[in-house]
Amino acid sequence: MEIRTVTAAFFSPTDTTKKTVEAIARGILPEINSLDLTLPAAREQDYPFAPEGLLVIGAPVYGGRIPLQAEQAIRRLHGSCTPVVLAAVYGNRAYEDALLEMRDLLSAQGFIPIAAGAFIGEHSFGNVIAGGRPDAQDLAKCTDFGRQIAFWAMDASLGDFSLQVPGNYPYRDRGPQSGIVHEITDACIFCLHCAAVCPTGAISGKSPAIKDMSLCIKCQACAKKCPKGARVVPNHFVETMVEKLQAMCGNARKEPELFFGR
Ligand SMILES: Cc1cc2nc3c(=O)[nH]c(=O)nc-3n(C[C@H](O)[C@H](O)[C@H](O)COP(=O)(O)O)c2cc1C
Repeated sequence: MEIRTVTAAFFSPTDTTKKTVEAIARGILPEINSLDLTLPAAREQDYPFAPEGLLVIGAPVYGGRIPLQAEQAIRRLHGSCTPVVLAAVYGNRAYEDALLEMRDLLSAQGFIPIAAGAFIGEHSFGNVIAGGRPDAQDLAKCTDFGRQIAFWAMDASLGDFSLQVPGNYPYRDRGPQSGIVHEITDACIFCLHCAAVCPTGAISGKSPAIKDMSLCIKCQACAKKCPKGARVVPNHFVETMVEKLQAMCGNARKEPELFFGR
C-alpha cells in the first residue's frame, strides 16, 4: 500500500478529537492536511479522496455512538478504495458502538478501514473526568500508533482487508436530544465567539443565548471556548453528571485500545 498524502479529518467541538487525530496522522507522515468538519458550513460540501491518500477520521463518543453531526460529516466523504484509520474519542466511560458505526459508515462511503483506536479525551462536562486528556502520554501513543500504521502499511495489500472492532448491532439508541441552558455571567463581553464555535448553529450571531434549544447537542464548545469563561454550566448539572459518571466508571485511568485489520 502506497501512502502519498494523509488527511486528518474530525468532528471535534472541544478539540480533544482534533488533537488525537492530528497526532495519529503526523505519526504516519509529518506533513498532513487537516479537514475540520465541526462547523455546519464544512458539512455542506462533498470531499473526494484518491486511493493513494490515507484518511484518519475521528469523532467523539456521545451516548456510546458518534454524534449525528459526525455521521452527516462522514456521509460527505467519498473514497475510492481509500484506506482509512478510525479514531473514537471518549470521556473515560465507554465507547460502546462508536467504532463499529464508524467502520460501517466509512466502508459504505468507499473507504477501506485498515486500523482503529479508541482514545480518551477530557469529558465535555467540566474538567474533572479525564481532565487534560489527551495528555503528553496519550499523544505519544497516538503518534506511535501512526508510526506503526505507516510501517505496517508498506507491506500490506488492501485486497480482502477486514477490520474487527468492538460494538453491537443494533447500535445503541441515540435517544432524544436535549440541550443545556448555560448561565451567562457578567464577564460576557458579547464577542459572540460562542456562536462562531457552535457546531449546530444553535446560538444566533446576535446574542449569546441559545436561540434554538432543539439544536443544542450539549457539546460544551461554547462554554469551554469562551475567552472570558463567562458561560457556565449550572453547578447542579455538572455535580450530578460527574457523580453519575464516577459511579458508572470510577476514576481509574483508561488507556487507548488499538485494532489492526488483516
Ligand atoms: C452529549 C455527550 C455525550 C457523551 N457521551 C459519552 C459516552 O457515552 N461515553 C464517554 O466515555 N464519554 C462521553 N462523552 C464525552 C466525550 O466523548 C468526550 O469528552 C470527548 O473527548 C469530546 O470530544 P471533543 O473534544 O472532540 O468534542 C459525551 C459528551 C457529550 C457532550
